[in-house]
Amino acid sequence: MFPLAEPTMSSTDPGVGNDPNHGDHDGAPRVLRPRRAAPADAVRPTRAEVNLGNLRFNLRVLERALEPQAPRTPATEATPAAPRAAIWGVLKADAYGHGAPAVARTLERAGIAGLCVALLEEAIELRSAGIQIPILVMGGYYGPRREGLEELLANDLVPVIYHAEQVADLASLGRPVGVHLKVDTGMGRLGAAPTELDGVIEALAASPSVRLDGLMTHLACADDDDLGTTEEQLARFSAIEARARAAGLTPRIRHAANSAGMLRVAAARLDAVRPGIALFGVPPRAGLGASEADSTRAPLPELRPVMRVRSEIVSVRDLPQGERIGYGHTWQSARKSRIATVPMGYADGLSRHLSNRGHALVRGRRAPIVGAVSMDLTMVDVTDVPGSRLGDEVVFLGAQDGPLGKDVISASEIADHAGTIPWEVLTSISRRVPRFYREP
Ligand SMILES: Cc1ncc(COP(=O)(O)O)c(C=O)c1O
Repeated sequence: MFPLAEPTMSSTDPGVGNDPNHGDHDGAPRVLRPRRAAPADAVRPTRAEVNLGNLRFNLRVLERALEPQAPRTPATEATPAAPRAAIWGVLKADAYGHGAPAVARTLERAGIAGLCVALLEEAIELRSAGIQIPILVMGGYYGPRREGLEELLANDLVPVIYHAEQVADLASLGRPVGVHLKVDTGMGRLGAAPTELDGVIEALAASPSVRLDGLMTHLACADDDDLGTTEEQLARFSAIEARARAAGLTPRIRHAANSAGMLRVAAARLDAVRPGIALFGVPPRAGLGASEADSTRAPLPELRPVMRVRSEIVSVRDLPQGERIGYGHTWQSARKSRIATVPMGYADGLSRHLSNRGHALVRGRRAPIVGAVSMDLTMVDVTDVPGSRLGDEVVFLGAQDGPLGKDVISASEIADHAGTIPWEVLTSISRRVPRFYREP
């Protein structure tokens, strides 16, 4: 049912002999390629199932959310609608834990315009997997030596820059390169600050080989109730664009919006958008399903979660009342209890904060996590799950349809229990959990 559709993650991964992580043949330092657990090697029944059909579905939902909404009156009939903003999917951190090569391949085939990653290493991983569409390296860090910049060009990647020195470094390569300039309009994290902007613009104007293709910023509060900060950031962004144009620069692709920004703020869509979490089927804000986005349009279908994390019961025991379990004995049975042990722990990305708080699904019914989540194992109270036994499927994230019912545990629910955000829930599923790809 879950065929292995990811050749780069199979047991045919390069061995040490030809592993790029072990240095290049000519001795030149190379950017490290990440490596992951190979599903074919997995013995344990714990795995993350990645539904590529749902990923494609979410892409279509986002495309529809971007359709221009020009009112169709006779007066506007003749006016061509503005083109739809392009989607550049954010696949950093191994595509939010889903496995970047398989996700990128699926999105590329589905016609996405471009991809964004944080690291040069992540971009190279995608190029090595055969991805041909533009890839933006958002982190803007290319290493202290020239090799990083050489790799950037050799792999036809799009660098993000925010310092005048980066322009000079790229110009020193003596080859044409298109860049996106990141400006800080209020995130206070990465991007040219207003005071640094003139220097970067001057450096660009003086370096004809470094072409300004894109102008970008990042929204800090697009998921807030109050969109005032977002509006302010967009106003600053457009003032910065005007300064760049006045200096003779002509960025073709302006982009600012993450998932929340693109779904909630029409003015943030510009020429391209950078959704991450929404592609993976998680609403970027509590209660914000795609259907609630932008009240001016017809409801869109809900996004579909792409990842499901499941394991199986490997041990069950019946305890008398008053028994304590797990490290620190943090849970005690208040009645005669049936406790299942499941081989997934915090080293797999199941947060310790879920100890005595979170849930799992067994036979289609919700069962509480009891005792402390340990490194490799977690206990689940299946007293109220009649018929539970060894080998039963246990779902920690996603839906389960079983003999006792149907339920779902969302990344947002886990985040609430663990005191974090769904982004962290997804990206925490560690490399020890093999990804299996489902092509419905
Ligand atoms: C610069 C940048 N753009 C876009 C995104 C995508 O954000 P989201 O996952 O909220 O859509 C991120 C992710 O954090 C980001 O850092």
